Parts: sequence; structure tokens; C-alpha cells
Amino acid sequence: MNNILSFFQESTERVEKFLDNRLVYSNVYTDKLTEGMRYSVFAGGKRLRPALVYASYGIFSDNYDYVTPFATAIEVLHTYSLIHDDLPAMDNDNMRRGKPSNHIAFGEAQAILAGDALLTKAFEIMSDYTIAPNIPDNIRVKAVYKLALAAGDLGMIGGQYADIAAEGRKPVAELVKFIHKNKTAALIECAVYLGGIAGGANDKQIDQLISFGKYAGLAFQVIDDILDITSSSETLGKNVQKDINSHKATYPAVYSLEGAKQKAEQYINKACKSLEIFGDKADMLLSIAKFIMERKS
Ligand code: IPE
Ligand code: IPE
Ligand code: MG
Ligand code: MG
Ligand code: MG
Repeated sequence: MNNILSFFQESTERVEKFLDNRLVYSNVYTDKLTEGMRYSVFAGGKRLRPALVYASYGIFSDNYDYVTPFATAIEVLHTYSLIHDDLPAMDNDNMRRGKPSNHIAFGEAQAILAGDALLTKAFEIMSDYTIAPNIPDNIRVKAVYKLALAAGDLGMIGGQYADIAAEGRKPVAELVKFIHKNKTAALIECAVYLGGIAGGANDKQIDQLISFGKYAGLAFQVIDDILDITSSSETLGKNVQKDINSHKATYPAVYSLEGAKQKAEQYINKACKSLEIFGDKADMLLSIAKFIMERKS
């Protein structure tokens, strides 16, 4: 576990250093906007998606700085999704990453704009060809395209829409899987894709990484649903018991707590099986899969 802890720590340090230079105060008229963006980005969080980018890239190379723009972009985009997810019109949550949610701290209008700006910032970072060491354009375009697919109506936003639309309706297995696959697994799948494509993975290797990401992402969201019931806001840094109160379509609502746990285990086993072709090169991804299942926050 020590190994994975230091891997997460080093991943986080790389990303935060990059971001500190990138999210800068540029104008007296927008300083408060920048402050709001930095507030959520630097509020902590597990930094799971950057760790997945690095661990996937690590199968091919240990020159980790090379892929830092991709690792940072996906964390910035994820942070935007959290800000908007907490808005009164969405999940209406007043706590995130152990602090007041962005709209509680800065007001709703500014939180919407900070989210918009972070989403755009992700693509700014991904497409900035002046960053050294430079990623070849053909790789960069593939990466940008994948992130756009994962984040939009065919991915995360599609899932978020279905999540909101399903509130109060009888949750059924097929719909809940659609929601989880899109609102959460799409970005996690994208994270491992980004590491693979930057590392020079071939088509077969990319397919296996995508399969890992999809199933690990499904497991991750099932555990998120379980923790919403079994954990505390002190441990999670966000409100709990929200899903039942909001009549959300979740795995525990469909399968019960025990059944949801079994589903998560099935998903993570499928995820780990996808990595067999990589042998021990994928050990860090396997450790992250274990972390996804055992995490307490
Ligand atoms: C929370 O994601 C939203 C979900 C997709 C479940 P994380 O649990 O990764 O949140 P942070 O980044 O650690 O705050
Ligand atoms: C959100 O799922 C997934 C996102 C795309 C942000 P949840 O609504 O379950 O995430 P939490 O529990 O608020 O972190
Ligand atoms: Mg939500
Ligand atoms: Mg939420
Ligand atoms: Mg949740």
C-alpha cells in the first residue's frame, strides 16, 4: 500500500505544480473567478483520474512529466463536473472535498462560470502545443477527441442528464448501469486511454485499457453509491444519505447493499482481467483497482 500511496502523492504533486502555474490571476476584473476556480481545484480530492493516467502511461514509460498535461486536464474537467453536480438545480449539495461547495462559497452564478471555465481550461491545456516536452499532434488530437466524447452528451453529461431525469422514478438495472457507465466510467476510461495513447499503446493494448477503465469506473461509482449509505460526511468530505433522500437511481436501490457490493466485485474482477496482457507492467493499475474497492472516502 505504501507504494500506491507514494504513487498518488507524486501524481498529485506533478498535477498541482502544473496547475499552480496554469490557473493564474490575470486581471483585476476576473480575480474572483480565478479564486473560485482555484478554490475547488486545490480543495484536495483523491486525484484518482491523474493517478490512472500516470499508471496507464507507466506501462510504457516512466517519463511521467510527459503526460502531466493530460493528467491535469482530466482532473480540471472532473473538478468542473463536481462544481456543477453540487448546484441547487442538480444535486443541491453544500459540501464538497471537505469544504463548502463552490456555489456556497462564491454564489451560484460564479460557480456556474467557474465550472464553465474549468471545462474550457481542460481543452486549453490539452491542445497547448507550446508545453514541453511536446506530445505529437496526432496523439494530441486523438486525446482531445476522446476527452470531448467522454465529457459530453455521449459520455459524462449524458449520464448526468439520465441521473437527474431518473430521480423519483423506479430504478431499473439497465438504466442505472447506463447512468454509471456514462456519468462516471466514461471519464475513468478516458483517463487510462490518455495514458495509453501517450505511451504509444497499440490498438489491442488500447482496447484492453479501455475495458479496464470501463469496468473500474463502474465499480468506482457503485462504491460511491454504497459509501453514500454507509459512510459519514466527515470521512467523505461531502454530504451522505443524499441518494435515498433524492430518490436517485443507484445500485443499492436496485440490488440492495449486499447485491451492490457483489456487482462492484464482479466489475473490478473484469477490470483486472483486462490487464492480463500487460503482465506485471500493470501492477500499479491493479493496485488502483484494489484501492477503488477498499477506499473509505
Ligand atoms: C466524485 O468523484 C464524483 C463521482 C464520480 C463519484 P471522486 O470521488 O473521485 O471525487 P474527488 O475527486 O476525490 O473529490
Ligand atoms: C456524480 O455522481 C458524477 C459526476 C459526474 C460529478 P454523484 O452525484 O453520485 O457524485 P457525488 O456523490 O455528488 O460526489
Ligand atoms: Mg449527481
Ligand atoms: Mg452529487
Ligand atoms: Mg454519489
